[in-house]
Amino acid sequence: MARTFIRGGTVVSATGSQLLDVLIDGETIAAVVRPGSTALGVDLAANAEVVIDATGKYVIPGGVDGHTHMQMPFGGTEASDTFETGTRAAVFGGTTTIVDFVVQTPGVRLQDALASWHDKASGRCAIDYGFHQIVGEVTDESLKGMAELVSEGVTSFKLFMAYPGVFYSDDGKILRAMQTGAELGALLMMHAENGIAIDVLVAQALRRGETAPYYHGVTRPWQLEEEATHRAIMLAQVTGAPLYIVHVSAKQALEQIAQARGNGHNVFGETCPQYLYLSLEEQLGAPGFEGAKWVCSTPLRARAEGHQDELWRYLRTGDVTTVATDHCPFCMKDQKERGIGDFSKIPNGIGGVEHRMDLMFQGVKDGRLALERWVDVCCTTPARMFGMYPRKGVISPGADADIVVYDPNGHTSIGVGKTHHMNMDYSAYEGFEIDGHVDTVLSRGRVVVDDGRYVGSAGHGRFVRRALSQNLI
Ligand code: URP
Ligand code: ZN
Ligand code: ZN
Repeated sequence: MARTFIRGGTVVSATGSQLLDVLIDGETIAAVVRPGSTALGVDLAANAEVVIDATGKYVIPGGVDGHTHMQMPFGGTEASDTFETGTRAAVFGGTTTIVDFVVQTPGVRLQDALASWHDKASGRCAIDYGFHQIVGEVTDESLKGMAELVSEGVTSFKLFMAYPGVFYSDDGKILRAMQTGAELGALLMMHAENGIAIDVLVAQALRRGETAPYYHGVTRPWQLEEEATHRAIMLAQVTGAPLYIVHVSAKQALEQIAQARGNGHNVFGETCPQYLYLSLEEQLGAPGFEGAKWVCSTPLRARAEGHQDELWRYLRTGDVTTVATDHCPFCMKDQKERGIGDFSKIPNGIGGVEHRMDLMFQGVKDGRLALERWVDVCCTTPARMFGMYPRKGVISPGADADIVVYDPNGHTSIGVGKTHHMNMDYSAYEGFEIDGHVDTVLSRGRVVVDDGRYVGSAGHGRFVRRALSQNLI
């Protein structure tokens, strides 16, 4: 495979930025050197088959999106991106690794669920991918299966305090899974919402004739996210399991996480761009059935209550550890439309795998986030958290050559008919204008996006066997 030389760019890592050239040999990074350096005793540019000029641009590790749901069966339908369409869209936006969730449905062994996800993904992905496992049924057999999955490179397990009758686990089951996680050194991931209480509020709202998408948000109040987050943290403390709370949207839930972290506990918070940018009033409250586009759980929160600003602040303090997308796309036609007249039937999920790096870079431009923190929360920490570092998430010798050349003076218009490659008939971020642009993307040394054009292929992406999480806290 070719030797590639990226010259003239500013390499941005989680800890600093420097003018550096990057030499890639085959699939991995061979050297990172000062411009004009003769340290290796050779003219690097002259010896490379491919030279990429990154002058005036940032050179960053490929994005790692630790939370996606390609082709996920949910709400009586299936998430609309396949592994092929979803990973292609991801790479357009500078993401070079995803970690998708395998779903265990009742009666199915974890190992068999994993095998079916391998079947869906294998030979179809444009970029590398790993798996988390959703434990939909905590039984003796599932707990034994967790150990087997860890040896297969699936080292994190998601449980749900929401969705009774679907994925829900009660506190006893959660405790047992956490005990097993602690024994294995595996990461426990939690959807923290009090689903039992939510279901009562949903039934009451529907009886009152409150059927519009807006009531999806109203019936999932922040108190029920805060309460579940607190409970999950306490259960994790009893067992000693490290705990990662997914898709946090309420500032009060983050306060719980921040407190636990302040007391030295292995608790981590993930948020998503939708919770930083969108709101209950503006999006879920859109006229008619429009709000269905933004029905997801946890829900978008009220801007009037200040959640979005607080989430940005917690990103700066480090209590939000990672930014993922929770990419779970559904089309309006035939999918979201299932909930016309009853918001509880709208499949829950927002698609955004294509836009995370851009949306978070806009946070840098807006002065909400440091440049290095952008790389940290979108690339380096997810790689570390999910046992892929230093192969992923960093530009250093020996790492996979997953690299994005990002133009801070470029421009990206988000929307259907613009930069939209996800298999959705709308964009959750329609009309957003970003002061930056993904120019070139390399996945394991191969150029897969060239000047904004896709030149990759389905099947290039490989399964990443993940180690246990490293250097937590
Ligand atoms: O609304 C969401 N978040 N859909 C995906 C499933 C989940 O809970 O992550
Ligand atoms: Zn969830
Ligand atoms: Zn999710």
